[in-house]
Amino acid sequence: MSQSNAVRREEAAPVPPPPAAQAFELRPLAGPVGAELIGLDLGRELSSADFKRVHQAHLDHHLLVFRDQRITPQQHIDFSRRFGRLMIHVLHQFHLANYPEILIVSNIIENGQPVGLGDAGKYWHSDISYKELPSLGSLLHAQELPAQGGDTLFANMHLAYDTLPAALRNAVEGKRAVHSYLAKYGQLQKEGNWRPNLSAQQVAQVQAVSHPVVRTHPENGRRALFVSEGFTTHIEGLPEDESRQLLDELFAHSVRPEHIYRHRWQPHDLVFWDNRSLIHLAGGTPDHLRRKLYRTTIEGDAPF
Ligand code: SIN
Repeated sequence: MSQSNAVRREEAAPVPPPPAAQAFELRPLAGPVGAELIGLDLGRELSSADFKRVHQAHLDHHLLVFRDQRITPQQHIDFSRRFGRLMIHVLHQFHLANYPEILIVSNIIENGQPVGLGDAGKYWHSDISYKELPSLGSLLHAQELPAQGGDTLFANMHLAYDTLPAALRNAVEGKRAVHSYLAKYGQLQKEGNWRPNLSAQQVAQVQAVSHPVVRTHPENGRRALFVSEGFTTHIEGLPEDESRQLLDELFAHSVRPEHIYRHRWQPHDLVFWDNRSLIHLAGGTPDHLRRKLYRTTIEGDAPF
């Protein structure tokens, strides 16, 4: 075939039709955070109108529960990428084979080896807040769920800021805090067997950073507390004891019961939360029960 014929054939290739709209329902959850989406199949490419509706719902509710998602890892990644660049977790030991964008969160041991990070989320945190560009949001997809336990708790940090007593609000005004991946790493190594020793290369990837204690959400414009027990080590410019006391008060206020939504997982749930608005905690799973989820994490902006 001559080159000009080949070019002509390529030009004639039909343009695929745009993705069709899907009929789905949005049901706000009772409580301070979250909405359920029923009837949306994330295995299909979303039309731009459906994507806009999902995006707006995410900004309004901070956490979306997509029920019954029978999707592959590649479809999970493709949907996540519509919101931004994906972050690759420093613990490459727990990447899903051939999908470094997916971190396996699991308490399962196979052939004497952990299949995933078993103690992920043991302390309240916002994912990857220890980077200059922390995460916009994370998508956690249930693969295998225990018959008991295994919930994930989310605290609304906009509400936490809005309800901060005046003295605390004044104390944090204009302050910055240091976030470090290593804040609890040694303690977690002592408490369980999930955490490998980090190589020099891994340590180099997680140098501590500083962020404002109160950040402004870049899309909804609301202020939120941005500190967490899991990754925040100290407040800059304060003596150690004052910094410790202020952080402890902020941590306790953040996770008051009225700020919290507890997610009880159902088979094939995919939960997409906003790390700029929420912190979260793994509620714990009895050791003898298996739990496995896949997580992607979207990069966000530098907090301001
Ligand atoms: C995480 O912190 O990303 C995991 C939360 C969970 O396992 O429930």
